[in-house]
Amino acid sequence: MTTASAPGKIILFGEHAVVSGVAALGGAIDLRAKVTLQDLPGKVLIETEDLALSGFSMDLITGQLMSSDAVHATRYVSAALREFEIRDISVKIESDIPPAAGLGSSAAIVVATVTAINEHLGLGLSRKEIASTAYHIEKRVQNGLGSQMDTALATFGGYCRVTREVQPIDLPQLDLIVGCTKMSHDTFSEVEKVQRLKECYPDVVEPIFQAIGAISERAVPLIREQEMSRLGELMNLNHGLLEALGVCTRELSELVYAARNVGSALGAKLTGAGGGGCIIALPQTGPREALMAALRQARGSAFAVKTGCEGVRLESDS
Ligand code: PMV
Repeated sequence: MTTASAPGKIILFGEHAVVSGVAALGGAIDLRAKVTLQDLPGKVLIETEDLALSGFSMDLITGQLMSSDAVHATRYVSAALREFEIRDISVKIESDIPPAAGLGSSAAIVVATVTAINEHLGLGLSRKEIASTAYHIEKRVQNGLGSQMDTALATFGGYCRVTREVQPIDLPQLDLIVGCTKMSHDTFSEVEKVQRLKECYPDVVEPIFQAIGAISERAVPLIREQEMSRLGELMNLNHGLLEALGVCTRELSELVYAARNVGSALGAKLTGAGGGGCIIALPQTGPREALMAALRQARGSAFAVKTGCEGVRLESDS
């Protein structure tokens, strides 16, 4: 039996612009997906059993129906099994990362699966090779759109500055509040929408991307120096630019304004592709209950996350 776990992520700054190679900054969070492999002669079985995904199991050879959350997770695992031509295996997925919410659940599952396969079969892949294999698997399932942000953070943890390259950056931990609309989003269609906008209006959209990139660059020293008020201002600026790109929804806006106005957050923005999913809010120092309550009152779910957390690891029951 081999078990590996990998973290989810939040994009602090730079989503969508990063797809065109402009700088983005993301951090691994303290929510994880765990994948366990066990030999199972004659079958390929994938099971999910956890809080965030509804329970199910599917035999890929005999076929069996499952919930949509489970389909989401299973697509990535079966793509990883195909990549390494693996059969005669059972794969158990446990995850506390909400799926399809922009928190990197699919990347965490792919990276944990590739890491477990690497260990189980003794392939000797380096972390860099795990990250790039996982990226290609994720990209294939998502029809070729997307940056390396999620798979890099799931593999290396910490923080990454991503352009067309991935650069791990050493920064202190941030405590953030995530507000979830409870509406799943479709990264592919949001990315396609923004890229189409860029093709139609390059003279308008490219400067927006450049401004987003400048925000990502300016954020790095502010996090290093713990300049929280100014970091909050940059989150608000970045959110406004994402609004301009058309990826914000009424539900996301309600959470952002509830966080800023009722919850007294220093800043708030949507995180990830938009069109649903989550926002992040930077709380003032001190109790966070008022901010969490404001998000719940705005019909979201709310939870605290830490950023800069550990990347993929093998678990001791391996
Ligand atoms: O919401 P997510 O985790 O799917 O993040 C998408 C972020 C984008 O910049 C819109 C796309 C990408 O791959 O970087």
